[in-house]
Amino acid sequence: MRAAQAFLRDLAYAAGDGPAALARFWPQALRYRYPRRHLVEAWTGEGAAFARYATPQGPVFLKYLPAGWRDPRAYRRLAREGRFLRDLAPGLPVAHAPLLDLALDRARARAHLLTRDLTGETTGWGALNSDSAREAALHDIVRLLARFHAHWAGPGQGALTGRWAWRPDEVLTQAQAIAGAAVGNEAPILQRAAQALPALLEAAPLVTLVHGDIHSGQVLWRDGEPVLIDYGQVHPSVPGEDLAHLLAVRLSPAERTRLGPALRNTYREALAEAGLSLSPAQVQAQERAGTALNLLSTAGQAGHSTGSGVQEALAFVMQAWNELD
Ligand SMILES: Nc1ncnc2c1ncn2[C@@H]1O[C@H](COP(=O)(O)OP(=O)(O)OP(=O)(O)O)[C@@H](O)[C@H]1O
Ligand SMILES: [Mg+2]
Repeated sequence: MRAAQAFLRDLAYAAGDGPAALARFWPQALRYRYPRRHLVEAWTGEGAAFARYATPQGPVFLKYLPAGWRDPRAYRRLAREGRFLRDLAPGLPVAHAPLLDLALDRARARAHLLTRDLTGETTGWGALNSDSAREAALHDIVRLLARFHAHWAGPGQGALTGRWAWRPDEVLTQAQAIAGAAVGNEAPILQRAAQALPALLEAAPLVTLVHGDIHSGQVLWRDGEPVLIDYGQVHPSVPGEDLAHLLAVRLSPAERTRLGPALRNTYREALAEAGLSLSPAQVQAQERAGTALNLLSTAGQAGHSTGSGVQEALAFVMQAWNELD
């Protein structure tokens, strides 16, 4: 009954000027802006729902929270992505889907964002059909990360204020909380990582924005050029957090051993090309700090999710950390 009421309230609200809550029924302002639209496809994911439309102004892509959802974490991610695309991305020299519309209502935890639909002009990781093509694509991804990091550590640094400011004290407090709550065999390893974190961050003194959830599904290719999507986890940090996320969380230990050295090289070269020169030792210090951060954040996620994906990710990053420790 409660859920049905929440659903109806969201619908009524979305029909007015609230954020969209259904793929087929848009808020008034959007209806006026795109009076002739045609729904092409709609689906619901884990953290949001999605719909693609054809309009006379071109194809558009809606990411929204479906009617009836009350998921503060999903709201926070969508709000973060929306603010990033609205406030920071316009100056970013990394290809992304430009924001067309954003609606945020924090009190009701409702949100939508509309971007250009890139489906017709791009292909994804799934279209790569050989190991060598996938390996080349991983190099594209680390180059993309390098350009993203060099921008926010350099010319974009001035924009990192307010909610985008780096607050290492908060990161350390959260790391301690995760390590303190850990139980079982992992607890002493997490506690050691949390204890080591201040020194690891001190050895990696570079602040940037990180994508925060980089993996092969977050990149689309347009005429061979990678486009970065899904900014729901963007936050200030050391660049090594993204590098370690890709290498230690998203690649298996065997893949990391095989591909890691060349990927680190590509990352370092692309950073230098984008104006940020780091020595191999400095990249290594970044990756160490980043591995500790990912170990703790993945353990934090595993604490409130039993999904096999998170457990596997935790096993991968635990192994990477043990190799460093
Ligand atoms: N602007 C866009 N144009 C075309 N396709 C897009 C666009 N944005 C996202 N997609 C597609 O939708 C998928 C999901 O989007 P996104 O990565 O932003 O959400 P997500 O948070 O990963 O979703 P989930 O919670 O379901 O994993 C992407 O993997 C991509 O295939
Ligand atoms: Mg995604």
